[in-house]
Amino acid sequence: MSESVPGEAFVPNPSTGFSADTVSAADLIRESVRTLAAVGAPSPVADARTLVGLVLGLTPTQLLTAGNPTGPQLRRVRELVSRRAAGVPLQHLTREAWFRTVRLTVGPGVFVPRPETEVMTGWALARLAELPAPATVVELCAGSGAISLALVTEAPEHHYYAVEKSPTAYAYAATNLAGTGVDLREGDMADAFADLTGRVDLVVVNPPYIPLTAYEQVAEEVRRHEPELALFSGDDGLDATRQVARIGQRLLRPGGRICSEHAEVQGESAPAIFVAAGYDQVRDHPDLTRRPRFVTARRPGPAGA
Ligand SMILES: C[S@@+](CC[C@H](N)C(=O)[O-])C[C@H]1O[C@@H](n2cnc3c(N)ncnc32)[C@H](O)[C@@H]1O
Repeated sequence: MSESVPGEAFVPNPSTGFSADTVSAADLIRESVRTLAAVGAPSPVADARTLVGLVLGLTPTQLLTAGNPTGPQLRRVRELVSRRAAGVPLQHLTREAWFRTVRLTVGPGVFVPRPETEVMTGWALARLAELPAPATVVELCAGSGAISLALVTEAPEHHYYAVEKSPTAYAYAATNLAGTGVDLREGDMADAFADLTGRVDLVVVNPPYIPLTAYEQVAEEVRRHEPELALFSGDDGLDATRQVARIGQRLLRPGGRICSEHAEVQGESAPAIFVAAGYDQVRDHPDLTRRPRFVTARRPGPAGA
């Protein structure tokens, strides 16, 4: 469905001589939509409304009846729109991202959480609902902390641990998880949580999984603005997943479970890694677009564990 903007008039860009007070908020949205649509931005109307609302400090509903922006507001919107038109992710401009029910601070140097990961997080919550509290939950590759923040917000009765290797991403996660009780650690997942060996009920991970061989197919906006450590993982994209399978065997108690996101082309190769690593009940699951998206598995153990 195409996006539409109410009203007819379009006030051209400022270099044309219009003074600031001739430009209403609706005009500014229309102008921004034109700028973004001209470069093929995927969601020009939504992005324009978000950026105008951000600068004017108004919700989408309030924007409908907003008065004229001030000159500085006008300049700020145009600066943000031109950066968005140049490919800067919207979330880097707004400095926020939403994931399930939680809001996260994000920006350059941290992976922006994606909607497909929300489905795997829902699977994790369903498993947690079956466990006596408090269960012990570990997130590997925490990035902004999106998964852990959603889990601790929706199921606060459990104990959560998370690890992130990138110092920049770790700093975002520390901000986002402050005051939640999540035990966040900075480091490599390979040797993280020696204190939890064999005690973990659930491991959750969205690792880097894009094959290096697919580098050229990754959108330029993603390659330029998202950290490489968050995206790529060896020629077949599965180096981190192989590591995750080994770490899960170390951390999980017998009968404990793991879920790990993967690329849509890894719907057979990712589960095969968990089978080869000695897990049982290995299953693959689709995301909301019905593409293969995450694998779940169980460390063999007593029935009903
Ligand atoms: C795809 S991002 C996922 C971030 C977050 N969990 C999410 O879903 O939005 C992968 C994250 O793993 C981190 N990472 C990569 N290798 C790691 C390792 N060996 N140990 C810990 N974190 C790692 C990256 O820095 C990045 O933040």
